[in-house]
Amino acid sequence: MNYYYITGTGNGIGKALALLLLENENNYVIGLSRNNAIKHVHFEFIRLDLSDFSQVESFQFIDIKDADKIALINNAGIIGEVKHIGNMSNKSIYQAFMVNTISPAVLTNNFIKAYSSVAVEKVILNVSSGAGRHAVEAWSAYCASKSAVDMFSLVADTEQNLSKVKYPVKVFSVAPGVVDTQMQTQIRATDKDDFSAVGKFVDYKNNNELATPEKAAGSLNKVLQNPDKFEDVLLDVREI
Ligand SMILES: NC(=O)c1ccc[n+]([C@@H]2O[C@H](COP(=O)([O-])OP(=O)(O)OC[C@H]3O[C@@H](n4cnc5c(N)ncnc54)[C@H](OP(=O)(O)O)[C@@H]3O)[C@@H](O)[C@H]2O)c1
Repeated sequence: MNYYYITGTGNGIGKALALLLLENENNYVIGLSRNNAIKHVHFEFIRLDLSDFSQVESFQFIDIKDADKIALINNAGIIGEVKHIGNMSNKSIYQAFMVNTISPAVLTNNFIKAYSSVAVEKVILNVSSGAGRHAVEAWSAYCASKSAVDMFSLVADTEQNLSKVKYPVKVFSVAPGVVDTQMQTQIRATDKDDFSAVGKFVDYKNNNELATPEKAAGSLNKVLQNPDKFEDVLLDVREI
């Protein structure tokens, strides 16, 4: 059995990826989210609020005996408050870093701790963003928190390549493109005074330029199924 832990299976890309993986009867998916609409014999839902450090810290990866492969997909993310620095609430800055950076980092740390001696293929796929690789006005906490995910992934991969274990963890940080999910709905609802480029995102939707969550999930799955084919840690689905 292949085991996939996925954060943020309540909506969007995470939900689409869980449903895609569940099409294969050799896969078992553990969804870590606040909400759940998936019912499947190979799906387990664990309620977890990734903005709450104590919940994330106390989450325990299960002892898996029959694994052929174990993967962690840190998919959950929030855009946070779309406002210029100086107009943001401090709490929203904390929440964006907590959900987008600290939770994936803690889960990555605990995943590597839990499974380093388990001799099977292991993959960590962090869902990053193009916004972590270039500055976007009004998205400061989002850009910075995703940029940190990229760097955390690069360091984790470097360390795994240095480790002497038989099956080091393959680590990726993947930008999924611009995808038609609730995150884009929130971006389009921003006031132009807060985000001068909001019209560009309204146009993406009106011109059908957004990828579907299913398409993004399919690209992420290519990495999960063929980790050895991808040399770079930082990937963009438009190049997969
Ligand atoms: N959509 C895009 O254009 C785009 C572009 C670049 C990167 N991304 C990245 O893609 C990933 C998925 O986003 P999406 O587009 O699918 O957005 P979405 O539809 O808004 O989904 C976000 C997911 O994150 C989960 N989540 C949010 N806050 C959480 C919390 N406190 N605790 C637990 N789970 C939480 C939500 O689950 P619950 O509500 O059930 O908790 C939901 O499943 C994110 O990391 C995002 O940054 C998206």
